[in-house]
Amino acid sequence: MCAGLPDRVVEEGLHQPRRLVRALLRRSPMGTVHVHVLGCTVTANVEYMLKTCFDNFPKGKPFAALLGDLLGNGIFNVDGGAWRHQRKMASLELGSVSVRSYAFKIIAQEVETRLMPKRGSDSNRFAFDTICKISFGLDSGCLDRDMLASELASRPFDSKFCAAADVLPDGTYVDGDARVMYHPYAMGRMPRIWGADCDAFRPDRWLTGAGGTFVPESLYKYPVFQAGLRVCLGKELAVTEMKAVSVAVVRAFDVEVVGENGRSSAAAAPRFVPGLTASIRGGLPVKIRRV
Ligand code: HEM
Repeated sequence: MCAGLPDRVVEEGLHQPRRLVRALLRRSPMGTVHVHVLGCTVTANVEYMLKTCFDNFPKGKPFAALLGDLLGNGIFNVDGGAWRHQRKMASLELGSVSVRSYAFKIIAQEVETRLMPKRGSDSNRFAFDTICKISFGLDSGCLDRDMLASELASRPFDSKFCAAADVLPDGTYVDGDARVMYHPYAMGRMPRIWGADCDAFRPDRWLTGAGGTFVPESLYKYPVFQAGLRVCLGKELAVTEMKAVSVAVVRAFDVEVVGENGRSSAAAAPRFVPGLTASIRGGLPVKIRRV
């Protein structure tokens, strides 16, 4: 019980900003809400700011100031000409056949030599180790991962600054210098984007091509990798890594979810923990058996 808050608010977890924003967005007919307590606009209509009117929605100075010590003037932390230049260089680099085949070789090696022998290993750790090896040719043991994680884990939503006053396509007015955020987790669970069964685990909703083949959806519907002009440059690599890990695990083991999270009732369903990398509260205990 939280003092001063109606029971329904506490029961639905609406005193937590993330849950509140999700509930408000789901109920909003336009897909945009203004949250006074957070002092910002949260929208699910992201195409306008990530593509159509990209130049009016930079990351902005507050973001650069917050992460400046950590990221310097690197691609993640700059706008305008400095970003354009780095984007061009990084696209050439990450798109080249030699860098791609080198990256895929490292992923295969890491799955074989690190992930499979230590089947209980932490998947965040695995992804971090792999990317260190690909990017720097280094074993991640020599980097302070805890520092990185704690510096970055506080990033709850993706946000941009509206440089000059603007009107979003749904008619929402946004002041100049105001923060506009979007929330991929909430967007992945909105009936107006995914239909009434948006909460159901139904992967076949993406197998709509000839003969039941996979058809990718618009990135603007679920922008976990962002979308538009600043879409993640490592998306393909990250997805390949996830596929390589899934195939290796499914081939070698039977995995059964156990304990609280294994139950199907809504109350016991896995609880999402936000952060730079998403996780499940209390982990996901499984029984694992080599096949
Ligand atoms: C599951 C893994 C990953 C996720 C969910 C992810 C997500 C994202 C997101 C949301 C952004 C936009 C950040 C922002 O502008 O605020 C981004 C940008 C970026 N990502 Fe990723 N990323 C992943 C893996 C990777 C990997 C493996 C690489 C490199 C090989 C990479 C390289 C980049 C780069 C260079 C940018 C900056 C693009 C720009 O600002 O133009 N990402 N990523």
